[in-house]
Amino acid sequence: MDLRGKVALVTGASRGIGRATALLLGERGADVVVHYKTSEEAARGVAATIAASGRRAVAVRADLERPEEIDALFARVRETFGALDIFVANAAATAFRPFAALRPHHLARTYQANVFAFVQAAQAAMALMAGRRGRIVTVSSFPTARYLPDYALLASAKAAVETLTRYLAVEAAPLGVTVNGVSPGVVATESIGAYARGDDAAFVEAATAATPMGRLGQPEDIARVIAFLCSDDAAWIVGQTIVADGGLTLTGPYARPPADRP
Ligand SMILES: NC(=O)c1ccc[n+]([C@@H]2O[C@H](COP(=O)([O-])OP(=O)(O)OC[C@H]3O[C@@H](n4cnc5c(N)ncnc54)[C@H](OP(=O)(O)O)[C@@H]3O)[C@@H](O)[C@H]2O)c1
Repeated sequence: MDLRGKVALVTGASRGIGRATALLLGERGADVVVHYKTSEEAARGVAATIAASGRRAVAVRADLERPEEIDALFARVRETFGALDIFVANAAATAFRPFAALRPHHLARTYQANVFAFVQAAQAAMALMAGRRGRIVTVSSFPTARYLPDYALLASAKAAVETLTRYLAVEAAPLGVTVNGVSPGVVATESIGAYARGDDAAFVEAATAATPMGRLGQPEDIARVIAFLCSDDAAWIVGQTIVADGGLTLTGPYARPPADRP
């Protein structure tokens, strides 16, 4: 778990799971590129916290909907650190719509920000990992396989990234780079508001009731899995998307044994 001397890039590190991941990788010794799109102050705060512990950290802006900004992000990584050891593809963006309301521009933007951007970024990351034991970690989501209202588009993009994770993993393994993913259940972040469709309390109650562990995930629950996948201990894991969801995707109508069972 010692990441001293490693350089990590975490997308969407201004808040939520990405923020917790950037902080944990920094705590474990990595220098960190804290990527953000709009939350500049928050991203600078994350970078400052990491830098305060003696690591190098920079906040870098890029809109993943713009390929030229993705190029500029990796050019900045090269200029600042010269190479890359860890790339965490965490940022996500979509339009939450029922299937019938999906329009071509919703598909184009969501696939650009989540799928095209991942391919472009992973290619750039691989180039910066040449000759190093690199780690790429993708962040998926439980609705790839379970229905969540208005989530069809992002779920399908995440499913594509899970498949790309497996394909890249096979091609990257001989080069010494492992590629894996993590698939969280419901995690207590600001984006819960988007899933909750106007009633956060009802959503939190339903998600908690559906999770055998009896609580929502915290960003740190997911960050620890990502940090593990970035460590030497995970060197033999190739192309897997690890489910870290407190049991959410195992359950049907009952998340716990009914009360009348011993
Ligand atoms: N929260 C959950 O319950 C949950 C569950 C399963 C999976 N996940 C996945 O976990 C990851 C993190 O989720 P989260 O809830 O912590 O945060 P989130 O709200 O899904 O993502 C926020 C991050 O993505 C960045 N971002 C958004 N649009 C962008 C764009 N066009 N270009 C570049 N960056 C962009 C944001 O940057 P700015 O703030 O700077 O704009 C922010 O840092 C996502 O992939 C999400 O799908 C979350």
